[in-house]
Amino acid sequence: MSKHHVSTTVNGDAVEFLCETRQTLLDVLRDELGMTGTKEGCGTGDCGACSVTIDGRLVCACLVLGVEARGCAVCTIEGMAEGDHLHVLQRKFLEHAALQCGICTPGFLVAARSLLERNPDPSEEEVRYWLAGNLCRCTGYQKIIEAVLDAAREMRGA
Ligand code: FES
Ligand code: FES
Repeated sequence: MSKHHVSTTVNGDAVEFLCETRQTLLDVLRDELGMTGTKEGCGTGDCGACSVTIDGRLVCACLVLGVEARGCAVCTIEGMAEGDHLHVLQRKFLEHAALQCGICTPGFLVAARSLLERNPDPSEEEVRYWLAGNLCRCTGYQKIIEAVLDAAREMRGA
């Protein structure tokens, strides 16, 4: 079967790949580009583990085809830290012990960053609502919510 040639941008870097028509962006990231930070929990758009942004919009990479990323700006968890310098959200997740097995964590971080870019001062209810599409089997969510609110406070300089 012939493959599609796709040029796109991932975390600010120009990237090219070949993919089949039916291949999802999640599979392309993990299998073609070796970017395994984005996780697969369900493959059906239910868990949020595969969250990435495309042109600033939060999406489930398992519901997007690789060919749909053509010409777009894709941001994944790999683009969150700057070298050894963790993003505030990543640091707060560690400080608040907001992760256990870690499968859900990249998705939560990408989704939370997307929220704070839109709303730097969310209420607890707004954080819970925004992250409602991200599922975690381990933490009970409370520590995740606290980590996001704490990160928001620090990012605002409060
Ligand atoms: S793997 Fe995409 S939403 Fe679960
Ligand atoms: S830390 Fe295990 S699923 Fe969230």
